[in-house]
Amino acid sequence: MTNRLCEMFGISAPILAFSHCRDVVVEVSKAGGLGVLGMARMSPEQVHEELNWIDAHIGGKPYGIDILNPTRYEDLGDRKFDPVRLFPPAQLDFVKSLLDNAGIPPLPVADADAIMKAMVNQFTFTPEESAKMVDIALQHPIKLIVNALGSPSPELVARAHAQGVKVAAMAGAPKHALKHKQVGCDFVIAVGTEAGGHTGSTTSMVLWPRVVDAVAPLPVLGAGGVGRGRQIAAALALGCEGVWCGSVWLKTVESEVTPEIKQKLFEAGSEDAVLTRTVTGKPCRTLRSAFTDAWDLPGAPPTLPAPLQALLWWGQGRTRVERVRAKDFLTYPVGQIVGDMHAETSVREVVHEMLLELLESKERLDSLLD
Ligand SMILES: Cc1cc2nc3c(=O)[nH]c(=O)nc-3n(C[C@H](O)[C@H](O)[C@H](O)COP(=O)(O)O)c2cc1C
Repeated sequence: MTNRLCEMFGISAPILAFSHCRDVVVEVSKAGGLGVLGMARMSPEQVHEELNWIDAHIGGKPYGIDILNPTRYEDLGDRKFDPVRLFPPAQLDFVKSLLDNAGIPPLPVADADAIMKAMVNQFTFTPEESAKMVDIALQHPIKLIVNALGSPSPELVARAHAQGVKVAAMAGAPKHALKHKQVGCDFVIAVGTEAGGHTGSTTSMVLWPRVVDAVAPLPVLGAGGVGRGRQIAAALALGCEGVWCGSVWLKTVESEVTPEIKQKLFEAGSEDAVLTRTVTGKPCRTLRSAFTDAWDLPGAPPTLPAPLQALLWWGQGRTRVERVRAKDFLTYPVGQIVGDMHAETSVREVVHEMLLELLESKERLDSLLD
């Protein structure tokens, strides 16, 4: 294919892949798309290590990075590492009793402290931390920086552009997309509510053409609910220049998810991908679990603002749950296409099948519209 997006990166398929897994990033770029590594929760040292690995394995193909830059984020101040000072008693006790009552053993005290410390350090998504990551990333041959949860600063855009690196940002509404255009983004990613991870409330079908019209002539990628070729055809038909996918890679052999979570994904229906604040404090589509359900029950406390709810789940819940592989409590961000995910495959096969189905869609439409 050739269009502005393919030309921008010298790629043959306008499929951009978000993943926290470097193997997925490399395989997507090698298959003709463009892999983008999510850097949330990585230390500067890890960023360097991951990007060095990608540079060594990607065979000169283009790739990008994704950083979180939340506009609203609770300052942890000096409460940092102490759960009792960090979390209000109602929410801390709620999680503790939930897991205790389910027979999930507490962490040994020494481990619990170290884990809490690691979590707090990983959940510091400040502009300063993001700037450090960008400094490191710009020492590598990245071709794209994607900013999530807000607009990038004009300084970030200028620094990236000075090195020939493109900048994009995610939008769940036309007004956010317009802000991204104003600060100089090269394209916008319109994320429909079907998406895994943080997302808004408007469906892709409604959102994509509205964002396309709002920021024209800036290119737009359709995200949220894209896992197959017919959905790429829909995005192109609605005016997008390509797609941005996250959930579909979770079913691949290359993906980062554990076998237990992968199995849960294969057993889930679309209705099991629930939009909940329980895992991060912001609306995040994730696999329904005993943890996400518990907060909907009468008497449950309200969820905490980001990043406190994320620290509560990761530091006080998730680590306990994953240690004993408590299947009912395991969860992972995933979009509504989870209902279409039934068996393990490879990244290369996903891309190949997407392109085949896209071509079939074109032929079907061509024959209909002739
Ligand atoms: C497991 C998972 C983790 C995600 N983490 C992030 C993240 O750290 N940063 C980000 O910008 N988007 C993140 N997302 C959202 C994706 O960037 C993307 O918007 C979404 O996956 C697109 O919809 P889809 O899931 O239907 O493909 C994540 C998505 C998934 C499935």
